[in-house]
Amino acid sequence: MARLNLKEQLTDAKRNGYAIGAFNIFDCPSARAAVDAADSLKTPILLQTSVGTVKKFGPEELFGMMDLMRKRTAVPVLFHLDHCTEPELAKVCIDTGWDSVMIDLSARPLDENIRITGEIKKYAAVKGVCVEGELGVISGVEEEINAEEGELADYETSLVFLEGTGIDAFAPAVGTAHGVYKKEVKLNYDLVRKLSETTAVPVVIHGGTGLSDEQFARLIACGASKINVSTALKYAYINGLKEYLHGHPEEYDPIKLNSAAEKSVRETVANHIIRFKPKSGGRI
Ligand code: 13P
Repeated sequence: MARLNLKEQLTDAKRNGYAIGAFNIFDCPSARAAVDAADSLKTPILLQTSVGTVKKFGPEELFGMMDLMRKRTAVPVLFHLDHCTEPELAKVCIDTGWDSVMIDLSARPLDENIRITGEIKKYAAVKGVCVEGELGVISGVEEEINAEEGELADYETSLVFLEGTGIDAFAPAVGTAHGVYKKEVKLNYDLVRKLSETTAVPVVIHGGTGLSDEQFARLIACGASKINVSTALKYAYINGLKEYLHGHPEEYDPIKLNSAAEKSVRETVANHIIRFKPKSGGRI
């Protein structure tokens, strides 16, 4: 099957004033839940997989499972590798069938980040696969990556990074963080807007869990076209299980438990998709 093109999907979203949700799934029920939410709202999504999830199932098994799930809908469902710090693993996912990969070398010196991200971009382009790159420090914990607060991205360095790598989607650190926010979030909306207005590379926002409706709407109005959500799905899954068990302490049917977790994830994904289509639309 021809790969779905991340840059084209995100460019369309940007043009039409919405953002595509990239949801980190971690097993079959979570993938099924995300696909069904996208289907019910007739909106494209990304099934995003962490390196940990790829390693748990193995690329072939995970790809096969996700591919079965996406056949449940006619809306575009793209497979995206999230925060990959291992270039060789990114190549394996490219070869296996992922539509896009994020290579995250933001912890390395700028020249190394540019060089290796650019190499992956060249490798991926031959197979019609898009590449996302990161610049600056997006703090918090995302699977095995634990980043302390650090420097955010700036406009001039972003241009150098985009020019040097040729990437298809760009995740600049703009003040969001992975995980649950413990203090007030200050976002660099100006950088999102300036990059969106002056470059053709779609801007990606990480750390979607816990942002407010107003923050989402403003980021999208500034041109952000991909928003990542992971922690909210994990909470939904576990809380769905806990609530079910609380109400049915003697239940030993895994299908019922499994369905409760799936329903909870489906509602959470749908809720985010709705928030990523602000009613006013348009750019500011
Ligand atoms: P959250 O876990 O904060 O939603 O962040 C998700 C993310 O950015 C994945 O790359």
